[in-house]
Amino acid sequence: MKALLLAGGLGTRLRPLTDDLPKPMVPIMGRPLLESIILNLKKSGIDEVVISTYYKSQYIEDYFRQKEDLGVKIHYITEESPLGTGGAIKNAEKFFDDTFLILNSDIVSDVNYADLIKYHKRKRAQVTIASIEVRDTSQYGVIEFDEKGFITAFKEKPKSGESNSKYINAGVYVFEPDVLKEIPENTVVSVERETYPTLLEKGYRMAIYKFNGYWIDIGTIDKYKKVHEDILRGKSRFISTNFSRGIILGDNVKIHPTARVIGPAYIGNNTEIDAYATVGPYTVIGNNCRIGQESKVSKSILWNNVKVRRFARLDNAVVTSECIVEVNMEIKNTVFTANRLASSTMTT
Ligand code: GDD
Ligand code: MG
Repeated sequence: MKALLLAGGLGTRLRPLTDDLPKPMVPIMGRPLLESIILNLKKSGIDEVVISTYYKSQYIEDYFRQKEDLGVKIHYITEESPLGTGGAIKNAEKFFDDTFLILNSDIVSDVNYADLIKYHKRKRAQVTIASIEVRDTSQYGVIEFDEKGFITAFKEKPKSGESNSKYINAGVYVFEPDVLKEIPENTVVSVERETYPTLLEKGYRMAIYKFNGYWIDIGTIDKYKKVHEDILRGKSRFISTNFSRGIILGDNVKIHPTARVIGPAYIGNNTEIDAYATVGPYTVIGNNCRIGQESKVSKSILWNNVKVRRFARLDNAVVTSECIVEVNMEIKNTVFTANRLASSTMTT
């Protein structure tokens, strides 16, 4: 079976992390989210994917072209101007002549794809939407359904009081290809705001697949931080290694005997931690980083090739690739990109 990965969004709410790379490529535990999604699909027997791109499309192609050992066939389809989620699905029509999966590419979840597909077939549905129950539905698509598990209404980001349902669209769908004829060609279409309501109006069989496991949309800085904390606490199976409480070291990590690493923490390949430095807890450090003498890094996420100079202090920070944190510098509750401090301040 094939999967379509919707990866063309602007990632505005995740700025400045998305200044140089598209949202699906932000690292989660040191690896681009999209790569982990593809690896998880592969485990469920999906070995061919179509990535639908727009914003910074070349970044995605360049990355995966040098990852040919992934064992998954990847096709790319790029929009000249954003077509919206529905338009992007229609645009990829030529790749699909059988039941297929569609995924938002900014989700970390433990949804069981094989079970979802089995459910879709058993229901003889034309579209099945994976769904989880949440308290605050305002940021999501809300699903109303009958006692047999068929969807009766889909309301994208409803205003308060517009729906009593607490079941939201988890951004994972199974589609029968004949549904695509209902989406107009070469037009900006939202699958959530336009296609789903149209399909329901026309009487298509749309099923809801409820699941309970871990699920998060990583689309804001706070959630980007939360997903790391959750994985480090062992709350999700999205990344196959169990990080709970432990310290996970990549290849060729050098830790000076006087340095301290406090778990849970992840240290990427070829990273060096110098004398009397303290790293952790709840800290993720990427590949080829250098943590300088007597510096302190806690509750932070560092991307690749970051240099933290002597006596620097990082707490509750995100530092993007190639940054240099100068001697004595203190970075707290913020995102540090290149050598400038970003304006966004985190609340957690
Ligand atoms: N190719 C392409 N073109 N992809 C797009 C476009 C586009 O014009 N617009 C958005 N996407 C991709 C994004 O990259 C992302 O992976 C996915 O579609 C969803 O877009 P978001 O911008 O992240 O939407 P959202 O988070 O506000 O809402 C969506 O996700 C929720 C779950 O997290 C909706 O599907 C909601 O119904 C859902 O509950
Ligand atoms: Mg999203």
